[in-house]
Amino acid sequence: MLLLHRTVVPGLRQAYRLKSAPSRLCIWACSTNDSFQPQRSSHAFSGDNSSTRGWRVMGTLLGLGAVLAYHDHWCRAAQESPRIYTREEVRSHSSPETGIWVTLGSEVFDVTEFVDLHPGGPSKLMLAAGGPLEPFWALYAVHNQSHVREILAQYKIGELSPDDKAASILKTSDPYADDPIRHPALKVNSQRPFNAEPPPELLTENYITPNPIFFTRNHLPVPNLDPDTYRLHVVGPPGGQSLCLSLDDLYQFPKHEITVTLQCAGNRRSEMTRFKEVRGLEWSAGAISTARWAGARLCDVLSQAGHHLSETEAHVCFEGLDSDPTGTAYGASIPLARAMDPEAERRDYKGFSPSVDWDTVDFDSAPSIQELPVQSAITQPKDGETIESGEVTVKGYAWSGGGRAVVRVDVSLDGGLTWQVAELDGEEQRARKAWAWRLWQLQAPVPAGKKELNIVCKAVDDSYNVQPDTVAPIWNLRGVLSNAWHHVHVHVAP
Ligand code: HEM
Repeated sequence: MLLLHRTVVPGLRQAYRLKSAPSRLCIWACSTNDSFQPQRSSHAFSGDNSSTRGWRVMGTLLGLGAVLAYHDHWCRAAQESPRIYTREEVRSHSSPETGIWVTLGSEVFDVTEFVDLHPGGPSKLMLAAGGPLEPFWALYAVHNQSHVREILAQYKIGELSPDDKAASILKTSDPYADDPIRHPALKVNSQRPFNAEPPPELLTENYITPNPIFFTRNHLPVPNLDPDTYRLHVVGPPGGQSLCLSLDDLYQFPKHEITVTLQCAGNRRSEMTRFKEVRGLEWSAGAISTARWAGARLCDVLSQAGHHLSETEAHVCFEGLDSDPTGTAYGASIPLARAMDPEAERRDYKGFSPSVDWDTVDFDSAPSIQELPVQSAITQPKDGETIESGEVTVKGYAWSGGGRAVVRVDVSLDGGLTWQVAELDGEEQRARKAWAWRLWQLQAPVPAGKKELNIVCKAVDDSYNVQPDTVAPIWNLRGVLSNAWHHVHVHVAP
């Protein structure tokens, strides 16, 4: 679906980050409120440009030991008697060739070695190269955490000269001032950008999640849309036409309706964090919601722009209206073959082996996640709750990626020793074309004499994929694809 009627945002507000631009031919689809700026700096700052690659190889050859020694040397030196730099000197360190320096307050940091390790991607960090971090960190408030400051502190090389200190305190207007007012029931994981999930007790009350508590995943301030001036730009194939469509133009396409569940790749990340630290927002089991979506199909719009399935290597690149201070829009991509499939859906992000850490990760080595694995979670009772003896009602959701239908949910009251099959609710699903979740529930007697229950659920999809029993074998440094058996511990009232 290209045009989403659920909320006011026909752009990519809830899109996942594209870590590195695909090297294949890209078709661009982006939304603007005014003039068209195709292929903006998201290309120019691609983490895959050749100079970055060359520099990365060189860094590897130098050897980690040498890098660390150099690094330690500078850190010690910086602490003992900080070197003084002018802002001009900092500015001249803004490329891999010169080294990459940034400032925070009056402190100067050489982050050359960190650029490729940056969880937000090298291209984002490069936006601040040679200058202050404040304007960018005001936007990406994920940096207001002690572990981020600790990482930065390792790279300190000195202080700004007294004359330049004052100038470094940049006045930044609040980019989030116009964000909408949110529902108070939402459990907020970060205020700026706003990321929040519905509480478990509300999540599965309705098959269609009420709009005000639909989970919210933002990377930037919410763009302000003017429906009259809104335009969707679609770049055509080489030699073909490009489209510039108003909302009214989009309404002229055949309207399709579909019930779809949207899940963040980081849903249930907090369970991975409990096993071993990961970087990312601490989502519980609520980074998932379901809506009835309606609008023009992406494949119809791309066809009108002259795209055909024959462009086998092509990707469709989306740019949202949400952009950072430099105008760099948030983006994501999917293969054209998927976009042209009238039944297809969209996903992104990457997963790695549990053995891969931030020192060894190679983001080019893994494909982006397009389909998420089978998933289920318990929403009632709540973890730590005290339930009545007699009977317990267990409720939850189950869902699988790639259009796979949920065929069964198993529930255990004793940590996985014995199982009972839950009753599935919600719309019937077509095999391999099931885009929405199933809600489920089980009513079962509380085993006599039990003071505590370790309630577990696991779902099975129509490819007979099952959820892994523990987090350890699927742990990954970014905390995505967290779909181990979901546990809820409850006390039984005497
Ligand atoms: C040397 C300076 C920087 C350091 C040390 C740094 C460090 C980090 C760390 C540790 C994270 C992961 C945080 C977490 O998820 O808990 C992160 C994420 C991120 N950073 Fe940075 N960062 C720097 C500069 C920047 C700049 C200049 C930008 C933007 C222009 C930026 C944009 C982002 C984004 C978009 C994310 C991902 C947030 C998400 O997952 O939604 N960073 N950074």
